[in-house]
Amino acid sequence: MTKLTETQSSRRDFLKAGQAVAAASALSGVALPHVHAAESNTVQIALVGCGGRGTGAVVDALSAKNGPTKLTAMADVFEERLVGSHQVLSQRFSSRMEVPMDRRFIGFDGFKKAMDCLRPGDVAILATPPAFRWVQFQYAIQKGLNVFMEKPITVDGPSSRKMFALGEESVKRGLKVGVGLMCRHCVARQELFQRIQSGELGELLLMRAYRMAGPTGQLPTERKPEGISELMYQVQKFHAFLWAGGGGFSDFLIHNIDETCWMKNAWPVQAEGSGGRHYKGQYVDQNFDSYAVEYTFADGTKFDMHGRTIAGCQTHFASYAHGTNGLAVISSQSHTPSRARIYKGHNLIRDDVVWAYPQPEPNPYQLEWEDLLDAIRNNKPYNEVKRGAEASLVTAMGRVACHTGQVVTYEDMLNHPVELAPNLDKLTMDSPAPVQPLPDGSYPMPQPGIVNNREY
Ligand SMILES: NC(=O)c1ccc[n+]([C@@H]2O[C@H](COP(=O)([O-])OP(=O)(O)OC[C@H]3O[C@@H](n4cnc5c(N)ncnc54)[C@H](O)[C@@H]3O)[C@@H](O)[C@H]2O)c1
Repeated sequence: MTKLTETQSSRRDFLKAGQAVAAASALSGVALPHVHAAESNTVQIALVGCGGRGTGAVVDALSAKNGPTKLTAMADVFEERLVGSHQVLSQRFSSRMEVPMDRRFIGFDGFKKAMDCLRPGDVAILATPPAFRWVQFQYAIQKGLNVFMEKPITVDGPSSRKMFALGEESVKRGLKVGVGLMCRHCVARQELFQRIQSGELGELLLMRAYRMAGPTGQLPTERKPEGISELMYQVQKFHAFLWAGGGGFSDFLIHNIDETCWMKNAWPVQAEGSGGRHYKGQYVDQNFDSYAVEYTFADGTKFDMHGRTIAGCQTHFASYAHGTNGLAVISSQSHTPSRARIYKGHNLIRDDVVWAYPQPEPNPYQLEWEDLLDAIRNNKPYNEVKRGAEASLVTAMGRVACHTGQVVTYEDMLNHPVELAPNLDKLTMDSPAPVQPLPDGSYPMPQPGIVNNREY
């Protein structure tokens, strides 16, 4: 109850501050400093989206050995998420945080207010559901902020096109932008990449990856209960709704898709796929519970991606590359440690290992922050937006292939006209939800072969 009162008062305070914000936005077209050029050496951080990963990203930022960093503003659309995140972080980092009530913001415009608390060259963390990424990144660019944004960074063709354009703009302005595909910062995978590129695996013939687990995240979503609006339910349960983040396919499979295409050093040119709902029971989310995609690269070789979220089945969470000289394990189980290694044959036989990255491996979630801060402090070129948008687009290409039952090319996906959630930059708490429930309280589902030109 006390916390609610505090937040209400912070909202009121910020209504007043809103006028100052409007004045500050008038500067948005001005050329901005390229690096963190503040009077103090401390990089200030605003967290937008105070959930599990956003809170984790702040832990990584505040733990970076090339600090100092300080959390100075927070924004979320659910007060309890912000309060919970603040409490968790305060237990470990109270001396590295200064987020008084008038720098905590609740609402769909909270991101602007949080970013307005920063100076050009500080860092905004974008860790909301992915659909909001382009809206928030656009404002960060206007404010001259460096950015760390979580994957996926786009969900469909139109948001990908926007993100490519915003990425170019951020490069022009010299902003440093990290994208949370942290496996790219894994030193074991980096060494594997060099070994594959120098020919140790011979010619690459087949790539394959698996993320086969039980129900994950908010996939098991039931009909909306009383006491929450349709919009806020969809935002809260974002894995369940394709508009919000591309569903479980885009949210969970993107890491394996990205690391596998990295090793191939190419993006696939087309995807075909299948999937279905075996045991959804009372759950009404828009996801299938199994997916199989065959991606094709320009040289004709294939990459098979398997996803499953069915309890009681075998679990498998790993990526592989097969070449004429043998097999490489790109990742072994989850994201870290990768235990990257090369075998002389195509079986996982211990005696056939010809190279393995020595254990333990440094944590890539920490490394991605140290790399970003190093670029900020030393004004090194650093912008992962194009690559992040490509990974997001290729992931969406596989998802749309499964959901429509059609072959989808990279160009089809890039030029796809369907914007799953238009006008997100104008969203308020009173806006209608981007997808409307059916009369029975369930949501429109993909129907491959029946609905072929859009996902639902
Ligand atoms: N790199 C990784 O390994 C990794 C791991 C987990 C999640 N993620 C990514 O991080 C993002 C967040 O995932 P999560 O697991 O933390 O989810 P989460 O639900 O725990 O957190 C999301 C937070 O954003 C808030 N939010 C929603 N819309 C908002 C808006 N418009 N403005 C401000 N706040 C808003 C929610 O209330 C919530 O607190 C996703 O893109 C996800 O894919 C990445």
